Amino acid sequence: MKCVCADSCHCLTSVVMKIHLILLATVMVLLTSCGKDPMAERAFEVAIPANFPEMKHEVKFTKEGFNLGKKLFYDPILSRDNTISCGSCHQQHVAFSHADHRFSHGIDNQLGKRNATSLQNLMWNQDFFWDGGVHDMGQIPFNPIQNPVEMDEDLAVLLQKLRANDEYRRMFKSAYKEDTINLAYFTDALSQFMGALISANSRYDKYVRGEGGQLSETELRGLTNFKAKCSSCHATDLFTDNSFRNNGISTSIESDKGHYEIVLLPKYKGTFKVPTLRNIEKTGPYMHTGSFNTLEEVLKHYAQGVKQTETLDKALIKEDGSLGIELSETEQAEIIAFLKTLTDEEFLNNKSFSE
Ligand code: HEC
Ligand code: HEC
Repeated sequence: MKCVCADSCHCLTSVVMKIHLILLATVMVLLTSCGKDPMAERAFEVAIPANFPEMKHEVKFTKEGFNLGKKLFYDPILSRDNTISCGSCHQQHVAFSHADHRFSHGIDNQLGKRNATSLQNLMWNQDFFWDGGVHDMGQIPFNPIQNPVEMDEDLAVLLQKLRANDEYRRMFKSAYKEDTINLAYFTDALSQFMGALISANSRYDKYVRGEGGQLSETELRGLTNFKAKCSSCHATDLFTDNSFRNNGISTSIESDKGHYEIVLLPKYKGTFKVPTLRNIEKTGPYMHTGSFNTLEEVLKHYAQGVKQTETLDKALIKEDGSLGIELSETEQAEIIAFLKTLTDEEFLNNKSFSE
């Protein structure tokens, strides 16, 4: 790996990841340090997985920017009373979702109205949040920070807190080479941390990339069933086609109108982003409502629990007009076995993403 020394101490190769580079299989962006500590030699690396489709958001990485983004992500200073960090609701061991929480839990013990999503492979997300309300990664942090039930902090106050802090002054300067702490740098650093959260080393990935991952007979049957019955929506190796759909979990499309709130087109009432299924074994409870605790319940829902509403997705209406997906008990169990091969222990335990 080539290492270009920019100044006497730090050696930095920062590469803007270009969408067409994906065609060249795996591209490594290596950020290395010329410091004495050998552990710091590979501060972090961002690899573009060969089995992923086209990337939607470009992030330019630097070691200092990533480290600053990580510190911000885990710092409760971002909330009004300095108690809640991004990491409070997005926990690494459950793929940066909120463990055991149906709805996320924010400042003053308040509950939000939706289940916290996992954070992984965000550079491949077309839109963010269950309703697709944000299109630009840099805008993401403003939502939780200003949300009265999440972090409830004023952005001007937040900037004051950061500017009053010696360590942040030092880290912003080292990342952006200026004595300035502003919202552009703040969101850029957080985007670097969020963008680096790539999960692509599950057993399934190693199987499809021919890197020695083995799937059992049952898991392979699960994969075949999954392709036939689920992949029209949970498409590609990201397991989402980035569309907004109603998968029949609610009896009303008025209680939470989802993507409709953003685009105001009636056909989107009660539709939500098709979520990725990576690390799905770990990210329960499931759906934007957090209504299912187990994958067994999810599969049972698709087999026999789908509810009729005006915008229910056509893929969930059978030819005879009955609802749901044709799935025997065996097929359900096989699909669950397959879904568990999407667990990526390297990602869940990667120390460079930990506090
Ligand atoms: C109080 C809990 C809470 C806190 C604190 C919080 N989040 Fe979230 N986050 C959520 C919930 C809930 C959702 C899903 C909300 C929705 O879609 O309506 C979410 C969604 C997201 C998403 C969308 C992911 C996707 O795939 O669409 C991103 C990115 C994100 N949060 C990043 C952050 C960052 C960065 C911070 C800190 C600045 C943060 N969150 C703080 C609860 C929280
Ligand atoms: C018509 C499109 C569609 C089909 C087909 C479909 N899903 Fe989904 N799936 C969705 C949508 C949309 C959501 C999110 C719904 C919500 O929260 O409102 C979802 C959510 C999920 C979740 C919960 C994810 C999370 O993070 O909470 C799982 C698990 C899941 N689907 C598995 C499957 C499996 C397995 C199949 C095949 C048996 C399948 N899906 C078929 C659209 C679909």
